[in-house]
This record gives sequence, C-alpha cells and structure tokens, in this order.
Amino acid sequence: MRITVIGCGYLGATHAAAMADLGHEVLGMEIDPVKREALSQGRVMIYEPHLAEMLERNVEAGRVRFTDSYAEVAAFGDLHFVCVGTPQQAESLAADVSQVESAIAGLAPYLDRPALVVGKSTVPVGTAERMARVLAAHAPAGSDALLAWNPEFLREGFAVHDTQHPDRIVVGIQDGRAEKLLRDFYAPVLEDGTPMVVTDYATAELVKVAANAFLATKISFINAMAEVCEATGADVVDLADSIGYDARIGRRFLNAGIGFGGGCLPKDIRAFVHRAGELGVEDAMTFLRHIDDVNQRQRERVVHIATAMVGGDLRGTRIAVWGAAFKPDSDDVRDSPALWVSGQLHLRGAEVRVYDPRANASARQGFPTLSYADSAVEACRDADLVLHLTEWPEFREIGPADLDGVVARPRIFDGRNVLDLDTWRSAGWAARALGRR
Ligand code: UGA
Repeated sequence: MRITVIGCGYLGATHAAAMADLGHEVLGMEIDPVKREALSQGRVMIYEPHLAEMLERNVEAGRVRFTDSYAEVAAFGDLHFVCVGTPQQAESLAADVSQVESAIAGLAPYLDRPALVVGKSTVPVGTAERMARVLAAHAPAGSDALLAWNPEFLREGFAVHDTQHPDRIVVGIQDGRAEKLLRDFYAPVLEDGTPMVVTDYATAELVKVAANAFLATKISFINAMAEVCEATGADVVDLADSIGYDARIGRRFLNAGIGFGGGCLPKDIRAFVHRAGELGVEDAMTFLRHIDDVNQRQRERVVHIATAMVGGDLRGTRIAVWGAAFKPDSDDVRDSPALWVSGQLHLRGAEVRVYDPRANASARQGFPTLSYADSAVEACRDADLVLHLTEWPEFREIGPADLDGVVARPRIFDGRNVLDLDTWRSAGWAARALGRR
C-alpha cells in the first residue's frame, strides 16, 4: 500500500523504514531540513541497531522517500501515520501535543478524497476525539476523512524488531471502514499471529499510557524493595528472581538499579497524572506520583553512596562513569539517570569522566562541563571511584586486572546490578550496588 509517515523522529523513521521493508511504498514527511536530508540519503541521526541498514536498503530500492510538503503527502496515498513527538511541557507535567495538532491542521486542508489518518504518538486521553473533529471540519473530504488511534509500543534498542513483530496491535476507531483499512495494511504482521485489539479512541490512548505506567511501577517497586533489602541485609536480585518465577508476577522489568529514564516512561507517567487531574480522577492516580518519587530517590541515593565511598567529600575527587545513555543499545540521553548522577557529582566538586560506547556525543551536548573519555578503561585513569550506570555489555567484560595501575583507588559501584561483586571484592576492591549484600 502507499502510505505516508508524518514526523520522522525515532518513531516515524522506524515506522517508515520498517513498513517499506514489509513491502509498502512510503513517503515520509519531515520538517527539519537536516533530518530530512539525512533520511533521504538513507542515514539516521540516532543510534538504533539495524535501523540504518534497513532504511538505506529501502531508500536505495525506492520504497521510501521524504518530503516537507503536506500537499505531496495528501496526493501520495490515503493512509497517513502521525508519528510526531509529545514531549513534557516546559512549565508543567502535561504533554505538549502541539506537534500532533499542527500535523492534523497541516494535512487536513489537502484531504480531498477518502483518507485515513492514524495517530501513533502517545497522547493524553481525549486527544483523538478532538483531532477527529478538527479533521472532519477542515478536510474537503469531510466525514470521509477518518481518524484512528494506533499506539506504538516499540522499545529503543529493539525498535526494528518491535515494529515488525509487535506483541499486539491496538486500534481505536469510530468507523468500521478504518478497521478494514488497518487490517489490510497490517496483514503481513497479523499473518504471524499478532493479536489485534479493536476498540474506541479513549481505550486505545489509555492502553499506551497504562502500559508505560505499569512498567514504571514494576521498576519503582523493585527499587523500593532494594532499599528495604539494604536496611535488612537481604539481596534484591535473589528477591527479584524468586518473585519473578511466579508467572503472575514475571521477572522482566524487575531489575533494581538507578531507575528509569528516557523520553517515554518519566514523561508519560507525569502526563498521565496531569490528565487524571483534569478528568477529576487524580486520587486514583496518586500512586504514580510515588512511582516518580521512588525513581528520583534512586538517583539521589547513588549520589549519597558515591559521596560516602570517596570518604564523605566529593571536592577534588575523580570519578569515572561508565554509561551515559538512559539504557544500553541507544545513544538517547533524554532524562538519563546516568547523566543526572554525573551532573550532581560534578556540581558537588568531583571531576567526572564519562564514557559511553555510543552516547558520548549526545551527552556532551547536554552536559558540556563533564569530561569524556574514548574508552571505559581510559575513563578510569586516576579515578577514586568507578560508577557503572548504564549496563552496556562491554562493561561486564572488564575485570579488576584490566584496571590494575589505572585507578587511584580500587572502588566500584554497580548501579545496574549486573557486575559480579565477589570478583571485584576478592581482587581487593571496595564494591557496592543497590539492594545487594
Ligand atoms: C518504553 C516502553 O518499554 C515501550 O514499550 C514504549 O513503547 C516506549 O517506552 C515508548 O513509550 O515509546 P523505552 O523508553 O525504549 O521503552 O525504554 P525501556 O526499555 O522501557 O526502559 C526504560 C528505562 O527503565 C530505562 O532507563 C531502563 O534502564 C529502565 N529499566 C528497565 C530499569 O531500571 N529496570 C528494568 O528492569 C527495566
């Protein structure tokens, strides 16, 4: 089918490339000229495994190209995916939906034949219904300009896989014609046995934020347990393994550590709390404020532990930080716990040297006063303390012998609970983690 993708950031670029790869013809709409030029040459400006190869392959095959014209978008096809960002507003917890509004307002006047606009962005519940009214009012096609909401559940680092093999497809619709079109469009994915839930707008919008709120809750739950483990001498990894064997609980997303970050979980739970307030159901969602607080406290606890490990005063100390991205296999540093901790340590007088296999450049933009090293070992030169804050696999390969004669003091803190503390301790290192013996 001929489809368009409006907004070619993380979500849109992946959707455009992955749908072209499934055999559709795709026109991407991107207003940023630098991004558009890069995409047109088959290059992505983010690090996401397999995405660059897939985009390049499909650009070369002529299955995907990019434009900045809504007139061209409307003329190209009749299925338009809106993939623009909905970041947190600067002055409030609410999501900023202005990019969604301008995409719909920009496209609508050109829709002069039946078309389906499909929102994929994460939006506050109620947005789709409002956008459907805007579309019908401004599209020459009137009530033949349909809207569906089809949230995206991809994880950074697995974006290509998740887009082509999602756990489920959820579509919120008001008109049966939209379901028929989406079933045809997603046929290659549905043939794999992927379940499809067809529901109303509000449910589809809520499924997305509910899923992220639940994931955030799991993480903060285990992080709160980590604090109790520390107070009692218990071990949070054994605890997570043990409760995780219960299929009703499950082991995934029970990794205690320095907490969740990124462009989605933190802002989505805040936007959800804000929206619940507008809807008069704030009390029902109060627990999400605690989830956010527990998450923030984890970061603060790392700063306290690091301070204690260097003897109580950070001034004049050298601290090596392994990891800057909010998670491995990504160069995304949005709301990164690793960089938050690094920034605080620096503010309190430590010289902080960061190394991330992919995110040094993006980290430097946001945190120019930190130092950056070209390798994990180099970051540790003369360090009084090594902090492992993003669990890239290469950090697990480093052993105490690799840092012999490199660090000033043999002290390591594992903020992700994946290092073998016994190995470090038996080599004479002071080694700590969160919620571990
Ligand atoms: C998240 C959701 O997992 C996706 O399903 C969703 O589509 C996406 O947000 C979105 O809304 O677009 P993502 O932000 O890529 O995906 O990252 P996650 O894998 O969820 O990790 C989020 C954070 O939680 C990371 O900082 C990670 O280190 C942390 N985390 C994750 C933990 O601290 N412990 C865990 O057990 C799991």
